[in-house]
Amino acid sequence: MTIVAATRNPGKIREIRLLLAQIPVRLVGLDEYPDAGEIEETGSTFVENAELKATGYARLTGEMAVSDDSGLVVDALAGAPGVQSARYAGAGASDAERIRKLLDEIGSADERSARFVCAISVADRNGRILCSVEGKCEGRIALVPTGENGFGYDPVFIPTGFSRSFGELPDEVKSQISHRADASRKIMRFFADFWGNRT
Ligand code: IMP
Repeated sequence: MTIVAATRNPGKIREIRLLLAQIPVRLVGLDEYPDAGEIEETGSTFVENAELKATGYARLTGEMAVSDDSGLVVDALAGAPGVQSARYAGAGASDAERIRKLLDEIGSADERSARFVCAISVADRNGRILCSVEGKCEGRIALVPTGENGFGYDPVFIPTGFSRSFGELPDEVKSQISHRADASRKIMRFFADFWGNRT
């Protein structure tokens, strides 16, 4: 059986392939479907966007599809940047520009609680959603960016229970406690049940 990962990012495809290593499927990326077109992320929640992509790419490819959507939710900014995380400082802006905008908006507020969220959805080959999960990683926004590890907002996100940002913490720590790790564990339970019940 083939599952399409709704991404053209080789790093993400590798990650999902590792996750599904125990399951007898062929995982392929959208690069194998050059004519498939694009599904817009027009949802107002992470789950909505993940479901739009899973359903859309399943229908476009005729295969089971798995997709994700993630971002940073800051309480003092009423949930921003949220589903706009990648586009927060406009199209073509850099990670550093997005971080600058975030720190400008939050200013010196004492209330700096935030969380990374990752939704993962799976659709069958007809586009029907089989499962959606949401993973979270709670933390707070730092006063200044620190560290070179990770990507995106990692230099300003200090996970709960730590005093250093994801930019400073080793990759092995992030890969255990991140929103993506949480969502991955949940979706693995779905895949294990799904295949368990088929055999
Ligand atoms: P997407 O789900 O790949 O569209 O990611 C959305 C955006 O959220 C990314 O471009 C980053 O700005 C941000 N983001 C998602 N996950 C992380 C993370 O683990 N660290 C830092 N930023 C993240």
